[in-house]
Order: sequence, then C-alpha cells, then structure tokens
Amino acid sequence: MIPLVVDTDPGVDDAYAIALAARAPEADLRAVTAVFGNVDLPTTTTNARRLLGMLGRGDVPLGVGADRPLVHPVTQRAADVHGDDGLGGVAERFGPLGPEPAGRALDVVAGVLETSSEPVVLAAIGPLTDVALLLATRPDLTGRIGRLVVMGGSVGIGGNVSAAAEFNVWSDPEAARRVLVEERVPTTLVPLDLTHVVTVDRSWLEALAASGPLGEALAATRHVYGHGEALRVDRVPIHDAVALLEAVVPGTLATVPLELEVDTSLGPSRGLVLADRRGRAPGGHTVDVAVPDGTDVDGVRAALLRRLSGDM
Ligand code: BDR
Ligand code: CA
Repeated sequence: MIPLVVDTDPGVDDAYAIALAARAPEADLRAVTAVFGNVDLPTTTTNARRLLGMLGRGDVPLGVGADRPLVHPVTQRAADVHGDDGLGGVAERFGPLGPEPAGRALDVVAGVLETSSEPVVLAAIGPLTDVALLLATRPDLTGRIGRLVVMGGSVGIGGNVSAAAEFNVWSDPEAARRVLVEERVPTTLVPLDLTHVVTVDRSWLEALAASGPLGEALAATRHVYGHGEALRVDRVPIHDAVALLEAVVPGTLATVPLELEVDTSLGPSRGLVLADRRGRAPGGHTVDVAVPDGTDVDGVRAALLRRLSGDM
C-alpha cells in the first residue's frame, strides 16, 4: 500500500478525491490537511471532517493549513462552482463530522514524514501554499516525499479562472512556482489539459449514486459543478479525483517530462504555467506532466468508479 497524505480544499472534486484516498485498496491514508481555496479555510476544514466522518475514517489525522496565499491576498474563490458550502449545496448530506483537527498542517505532515518507514506520496489538490511552506521550512524532510502529485495548471488549453490560469495555481502562484520550478521533488502534474478530457457522464454518475449513501451524496453535488465549469452539464470534470488515482495507482496517466515556469507577475498572465517543449535543458528540473495522448481515458473512468463504489 502507498503511504499517502492529501492536502485539499473541499471542494466537490476534492470530495471525490478524499473518498478515493480513503477507499482505494492501494492507499494507506496517513493524513489529510485542509487549505483555503475553493471556499475559506474554516469551510474546507469542516468539509474535510464531514468527508472523513462519513467514510468512517476518524483514525486519519486532520491538519489545518494556510488560510491565505503566501504573498498576495486572495481575490477570488470558487463558490460559484462548488457552492457556498463548498460541496455543491449538499454539504449536510456528508457526515457525521469526523475527527477534530489534530494540529497545524505542517506539523501533521512532518509527523507522517518523520515516522514513515517508506517514502510518502503527497497529493496536493488545492492551492500549493501548504506544500510550499513545508518544503521551505522543513528541507530535512524533502527526501522523504517519494512523489508529489499535483492537480493544477493548464499547459496548452488556457485557464479556467482567467484566460491564462487554472484555479489552484492562480490561487497562489508564488507557492506554485516554489513547488513546481524551484524545488526538486519528483513531481507529477495533472493539468486541465487532461482533466477536461477525463470527464464523467450521466450514466457514470448514476452508477456511482446507486453504489450507496456516499456515492449518492457525491453524485448529488454535480449540478453546481457542471454548470460552473461551463462544460456540458452531462460531461462533468472531477479533476482532483483523476490526480488522486494517479497518486495511488502510479502510471495510470501518460506523462511527458517538461520544464515548467509559473508567471507570478500581476498582469493578465498571472498564474500561467508555461511548459518548455524545446527539450531538457542541462541541469534543468522537469515535472512529469499528465497528457491525454496515451492515457486510457475510459480505463480511468472505470477505475475511479470501481474504487469510489467500494467495488474492489
Ligand atoms: C481545481 O480547482 C478547484 O476548483 C478544484 O477543486 C480543482 O482542484 C481545478 O481547476
Ligand atoms: Ca481542489
């Protein structure tokens, strides 16, 4: 089993990802940490508690992370996409409330890294503030992260918050730059380029809803989310769940190694992730970027449904 920590801002698709982390037989979920993002930190923290409670995972330590970006104040959240409650207007369907927070995210994750006998996979599916803070303040622990799997960015299809930027990177570009460009942790980035292809349809959601109370609650969140993404309502992206699947079943997604840059200017391209396709520069740091080409998209949908339904 893969020792796993999830940093998250639930968030509808985060809810899918947390459920996957708790249910996938490949994952040994060691901690969940909540960060600001789709909604404010108190709400993402409560939602993480609701999810862990519903999943019967009161054993999983919950850490409370950053309530704001590293440098510039937050200017936009995603309540239009995820609902004011962060769970598509149906937060009360997730519960009972799970564990009280065990401490600060930094301390909770450090505790897992310090005590794990194996490298830990860190899945970051919200703004990268907590991860940047961890890498900056505990360089002694960097080597214990086996792999960082990040949902974020868009390297060829434009953004979903602005013309340039994807939400997680846009929410804290300085943190994203630290993690994706300056640090050298082995990293897989799962960008919109892939998650806008691995969408799910009505029949997939109906099958999930038929699997039990958790599936029913997850499927019920879809309405707000489908509209907010400006995609067809019957093709719903579940970005974070796709990244989580790659975290627990490595190699599920096809990837290409690319050197990245993140725009931290305050202009219209703030939060843009720029991928250098000219080939690897000597000494350059590459990130494995997930791509649709070569990914078995139907296989990913089926693998997600099996694990979320508890059918394996
Ligand atoms: C990402 O932004 C958030 O709204 C989602 O939860 C996901 O992590 C997609 O751009
Ligand atoms: Ca998220």
